[in-house]
Amino acid sequence: MKNDVIKNSLEHFKSVLEDQLKRVERLKENPDWTDYSAIKPIIIGVIGGDGIGPYIADEAKRALEFLLKEDISNGKVEMRTIEGLTIEKRAEVKKAIPDDVLAEIKKCHLCLKGPTTTPKKGDKWPNIESANVAMRKELDLFANIRPVRVLSEGIDWTFFRENTEDLYALGNRGLDATEDLAFDFKVITTPGSERIIRAAFDFAKANGKKKVTAVTKANVVKTTDGKFLNVFYEIAKEYPGIEADDWYIDIMTAKLIDTKRRTQFEVFVLPNLYGDILTDEAAEFQGGVGTAGSANVGKQYAMFEAIHGSAPRMVDEGRAKYADPSSMLRASAMMLKHMGHTEKGERLDMALDICGNYEKKYTLTGRSDGATGREYVDYVMETIQRDDLKQRWEELSKTGQPA
Ligand code: IPM
Ligand code: MG
Repeated sequence: MKNDVIKNSLEHFKSVLEDQLKRVERLKENPDWTDYSAIKPIIIGVIGGDGIGPYIADEAKRALEFLLKEDISNGKVEMRTIEGLTIEKRAEVKKAIPDDVLAEIKKCHLCLKGPTTTPKKGDKWPNIESANVAMRKELDLFANIRPVRVLSEGIDWTFFRENTEDLYALGNRGLDATEDLAFDFKVITTPGSERIIRAAFDFAKANGKKKVTAVTKANVVKTTDGKFLNVFYEIAKEYPGIEADDWYIDIMTAKLIDTKRRTQFEVFVLPNLYGDILTDEAAEFQGGVGTAGSANVGKQYAMFEAIHGSAPRMVDEGRAKYADPSSMLRASAMMLKHMGHTEKGERLDMALDICGNYEKKYTLTGRSDGATGREYVDYVMETIQRDDLKQRWEELSKTGQPA
């Protein structure tokens, strides 16, 4: 019995190890970043997802079509709707992403994705891998970039969360060695750490930021987090003008609520799970996860999404049209900037700040006493067109009270 457990466990680990050895070799190929100015048409896929996803994705698509009107009419951009990334279909084929849907996604250069249901043990769905996690791995979207801004409180953070490794890499390939003994695997690689850390420093350099902060638990998780931290300080040497420091995840969660201390942080870089947790906390300061967008960026593909869940209850209760599309609009702003439309992306961000935090001509409550997502997007599009947009935003963001 004991020998069988050891034999089976070793076999399991062998197969995991073989896959990861292959992966680390692929990572070393390190291709160049996609140059969107050289592509025509840039194909943008809009994936509805589950629950309120299709509603808020449709609204964000409308805003993107409005902002990209010219590019669409001259053939520089093509927008597509990708159907089928629903929990019903995923459950039916027992796959995180059905093959035909994945093939469609891979035909797009950029994707905007609504939230998808992540099954867990004991619910009514088969316990398949999260569609988010699978897509990040399939498209090698290694950088999860999450900005959080509350300018009136001096908060202007950008998180670079590693998106393909750590406890997520093999989250669905853990080992139940016996009935009483379970393992999961935490994977950190040198090239995987290098590329996310470099992305964080490059961003800092390009945006006039003075400091990059690494977050780990390297004092306890010595091998993997230790590697991440070593790589961090090695790469930091390539950026002499930028200060590099590091914190442990426990004290960092505390420092984010320390109003004096937190304004000193600018750019964070951290392994996957710590990044997952810390970015939810950080988003809370700007009004909650519903207000935050997220960019999942790789060298070849990029996917932009809401960071919240699919809120199936809102659909069951007939309230989906009152769902807040802000997170998907934030994600769209990130997409615009990523594809080179920096000014359009910034205007969308400014309009979202004005509409959501300051002027609030329409408020979303998620119920019939608030605006619908459609009314809200109309309001945002109107605001984008205002001649005094930038000036108004500057005034408000210095003095206005955020929500
Ligand atoms: C996120 C989400 C996902 C994650 C879930 C839905 C798998 O929480 O994007 O932060 O854990 O990465
Ligand atoms: Mg999360």
